[in-house]
Amino acid sequence: MSDERNVTNGLPSYAAPAGGRLTEEMLQDFRNTGVLILRDFVTRAACKTLRERANELVAGFDPYEVRSVFSTTSQPQLDDDYFIQSGDKIRFFLESDAFDESGELRQEKEHSLNKMGHAMHDLDPVFDSFSRTPELAEVARRIGFVEPAILQSMYIFKPPNIGGDVVCHQDSTYIYTEPESCVGFWFALEDATTENGCMYFIPGGHRLPLKKRNYRGPDGKLVTETLDDTPWPEERKLAAEANAGTLVVFDGRAPHLSAANRSPKSRHAYTLHVIDRQCRYPAENWLQRSAELPLRGFE
Ligand code: FE2
Repeated sequence: MSDERNVTNGLPSYAAPAGGRLTEEMLQDFRNTGVLILRDFVTRAACKTLRERANELVAGFDPYEVRSVFSTTSQPQLDDDYFIQSGDKIRFFLESDAFDESGELRQEKEHSLNKMGHAMHDLDPVFDSFSRTPELAEVARRIGFVEPAILQSMYIFKPPNIGGDVVCHQDSTYIYTEPESCVGFWFALEDATTENGCMYFIPGGHRLPLKKRNYRGPDGKLVTETLDDTPWPEERKLAAEANAGTLVVFDGRAPHLSAANRSPKSRHAYTLHVIDRQCRYPAENWLQRSAELPLRGFE
């Protein structure tokens, strides 16, 4: 029953429609809440394939080499550069608690990472084929994209015991276009629960103003400007628990957060951020790509 409506803790949740053909009811829910949960959008086998490919990429990463670059926390510019230059690369970002006082990893390498980003979808064939399917293209079309472009991909590890929390934010803060067009496509690659740090959304919060904007200042450093300092109505947040294979589509303005993972289970997820090429992409956004890696849509 592809069009059976359901809710996940008050958030709109449906069995994934055939071919990504969102119904008018689904679209209505998305417009009203800023969030749409589509269960079993991808198979568990596809999730496993992506997790295995991520593991292979992790195997080629040396955390001690990266650590030597950020040997002290007093070098925020190096930190910024490593991040800022990752828009057209595959880079690894460690959890802040990855190392102990003596400088050794507390857990094995694959359980020390916060994320990998930000161009796997354009650089790695396995990520490319996961990210570009006719179903995703159809979802993007139905939610109103005219010329969708997959700006970035992120593999989120949320490792056991040390997976950090993410405070309430809007993705359009970081992925800003004029007019705003950012939409997140978040895939649960493992079951995400309140125990292992699932996401929370404030339903309808996408109608709130954009509260912050992050950009490169004149000196190249990243600045986060507060546009509206009203606190988030976090008392209205709802957990978006999601089994592996679930796709959560959410508006770039939709406020969301996740708690730390103190459980023994990892919570791997994969996110695509999509913008419309018809909108202006500011030169001061942190993510800039080299001309050798042109933006592509879902085809
Ligand atoms: Fe986010």
